[in-house]
Amino acid sequence: MPITDEAFATAQEQELVNWVKHTTSVTRVLYELVEHSKLAEPLLQHLPERTEAALEVGVGCYGLGFLAPHLHTRLGKIDGLDPLPRLEIDLPDADLQQYVEAVRNRVNYIQAPGETLPFENDAYDLVACINVVDHAQAPEAILKEIHRVLKPGGLFAFSVSTLSVLGEIKWKANRRRKPNEWLYLAHPHTYQWPRADSILRSLFSKVLWTDRPKTSQHWAGHGRMSYWLLQK
Ligand SMILES: C[S@@+](CC[C@H](N)C(=O)[O-])C[C@H]1O[C@@H](n2cnc3c(N)ncnc32)[C@H](O)[C@@H]1O
Repeated sequence: MPITDEAFATAQEQELVNWVKHTTSVTRVLYELVEHSKLAEPLLQHLPERTEAALEVGVGCYGLGFLAPHLHTRLGKIDGLDPLPRLEIDLPDADLQQYVEAVRNRVNYIQAPGETLPFENDAYDLVACINVVDHAQAPEAILKEIHRVLKPGGLFAFSVSTLSVLGEIKWKANRRRKPNEWLYLAHPHTYQWPRADSILRSLFSKVLWTDRPKTSQHWAGHGRMSYWLLQK
């Protein structure tokens, strides 16, 4: 279900605070560069040798994202979209700063929401949307827009935080007790793996790869980042 404009504005404020706080942190920037590496290998296996047009929705306001660090040698243009403005990064390590600027320069940053993508139908060969939809206003509208702008046969690399059955019960109880905590304001939506999987399967024709949790993890495991590679 979409959240209100007001709740989304609050989520974005909280999000921005979390990015602004770390613009001089080597640790945070290194983490951003490697955080979703798990998805790179299956994606490289399915990606054609040369892929012209790629888009990352919710690229994050450092403008780094997942595609530019991991796949740029196989990609033509990379458009990166986020509703927040791109921030400057100022690291104390000159070599890392230079590398980070080179990665950022691979991405054409567009400030806009994923619910109304400013692109033609069938414009991209590859779209990534990594750890975004539980932070967004209308997750299913974003997924429909991604489907619209992907070419037939195009690839979609997706991830979202998923909670176990027990984890979601605890999350909802804690959110009722402390609704103004950063965690709850910045994550207006929650998912369990099966629900995310069924939404994705209802839109995309093929799941090429996913890291489905074990049954024990699904019922009582810790929250985790879950990944899918899909085809339109
Ligand atoms: C947790 S960050 C993840 C950033 C990046 N994808 C990564 O994995 O490092 C969530 C991002 O989603 C963006 N976001 C939130 N709502 C969005 C929306 N409606 N459309 C596109 N991006 C959105 C946020 O601004 C933020 O940059």
